[in-house]
Amino acid sequence: MDKDTGNKESPRPIIRLIDVHKSFGTLDVLRGVSLDFYPGETTVVLGPSGEGKSVMLKHIAGLLQPDRGEVWFENTRIDTLSEQKLGPIRGQIGFLFQQSALFDSMTVGENIAFPLRQLTKLHRDKINQRVYEVLNMVGLANTIEKMPAELSGGQRKRVALARAIVMNPKVVLYDEPTTGLDPIRSDVINELILKLQRETHVTGIVVTHDLASAFRIADRLIMLQHGNVLLDDTPERFRHTTDPVVQRFLSGEADPEELAGIGGRGEGKR
Ligand SMILES: Nc1ncnc2c1ncn2[C@@H]1O[C@H](COP(=O)(O)OP(=O)(O)O)[C@@H](O)[C@H]1O
Ligand SMILES: [Mg+2]
Repeated sequence: MDKDTGNKESPRPIIRLIDVHKSFGTLDVLRGVSLDFYPGETTVVLGPSGEGKSVMLKHIAGLLQPDRGEVWFENTRIDTLSEQKLGPIRGQIGFLFQQSALFDSMTVGENIAFPLRQLTKLHRDKINQRVYEVLNMVGLANTIEKMPAELSGGQRKRVALARAIVMNPKVVLYDEPTTGLDPIRSDVINELILKLQRETHVTGIVVTHDLASAFRIADRLIMLQHGNVLLDDTPERFRHTTDPVVQRFLSGEADPEELAGIGGRGEGKR
């Protein structure tokens, strides 16, 4: 007897944020964010600086707890878990931090091996094999013995990406993966994000300012404003939005309020 009357068109979310609120002192950063992220999809989160995009990612990674609301990974509510119980979940969520955050005193190879040493009991040979595999995936196998300081900004991002995926996570969080890179190096990162999704069906959540990158990699686009979800749509529909705030963001024009603050007039370049 088939009792399954569930809607088969929409898969179960792998990550859920339910009415998440977060303040720091008197600063209300997230004001009731509810979002579901679906397996295998790449969702790009756009929004001006200081909107709480990094704060949102940190809630998903279990690095911050909401003041109110819930965070779920598959069937587990994670915002109330102890550090100890979070361990195995963290292994399934890779995080590419905004500043790459490599350990300067370790070689590239040691940086990438670090999560495997901390979170698994894998034998050294297996660890080395996996480190080589992910470095190869990002095209930097020849840097395994180098120190992070010897690498360019783009290479550091790629090493950080290799470290984020070394545990073979189900979800990868990318915080501004192309910020500060020139267009060619940005494109290498975009292609790696696409390749990873294609080859491992990973769920990607990407925070960025970079519109070219957003439209290149997104299956779905979300825009945050004032601590809430302003728009959540396909890239195609996003481009044709009639929402004036989103239009201004897409055309690269600043908010009139911001321009007033610096004596500008709110006119675009063109
Ligand atoms: N740990 C923290 N303590 C206090 N304030 C914070 C903390 N983390 C972030 N903030 C503040 O919250 C706001 C949102 O930050 P963030 O999520 O980093 O913005 P963005 O959207 O640029 O990534 C900023 O005003 C930031 O200064
Ligand atoms: Mg940020």
